[in-house]
Amino acid sequence: MKETGLNIRIYGDKALRRKAKPIKKVGSEERLLAEEMANIMHANAGVGLAAPQVGVNKQIIVVDIGNGPLKLFNPRIKQRKGSCLMEEGCLSLPGVSVNVKRAKEICVECLDESSKKVSMRAEDLLARVIQHEIDHLKGKLIVDYADILRKLKIRKAFKKKLKK
Ligand code: NI
Repeated sequence: MKETGLNIRIYGDKALRRKAKPIKKVGSEERLLAEEMANIMHANAGVGLAAPQVGVNKQIIVVDIGNGPLKLFNPRIKQRKGSCLMEEGCLSLPGVSVNVKRAKEICVECLDESSKKVSMRAEDLLARVIQHEIDHLKGKLIVDYADILRKLKIRKAFKKKLKK
């Protein structure tokens, strides 16, 4: 594996709160980045990773719930159906899990690796992970879904961690 120096940003890092920029055209640079993101996701036993989590301000997400990696560029949710509450974790918030209500079924539009516009339907876990990663592109994290007391607790815990 080529060493790119990308590493996972942890809660408190400003990169996680930026709004990611859309990609004009998916080219070799974006494909390489998505590939590296997939490697990082797999190395950390994650089911999804968004570019801001490795400090890159671009609308790229990778997802793998066990059927091989999907790479989505400029993903947009076009339709939502149903809702479902489930506990979620995040590689940027190690040790934290939060109950998050999300649509059970979604229709997503994105660019694929050849920069072609495609749309896909997803449900259950896949739909959940895609929604979680798209949140990252907007600077949104699972901690934002927690109640105020829990938020303060998590913030405090990570402040301590970051100072060390
Ligand atoms: Ni996450």
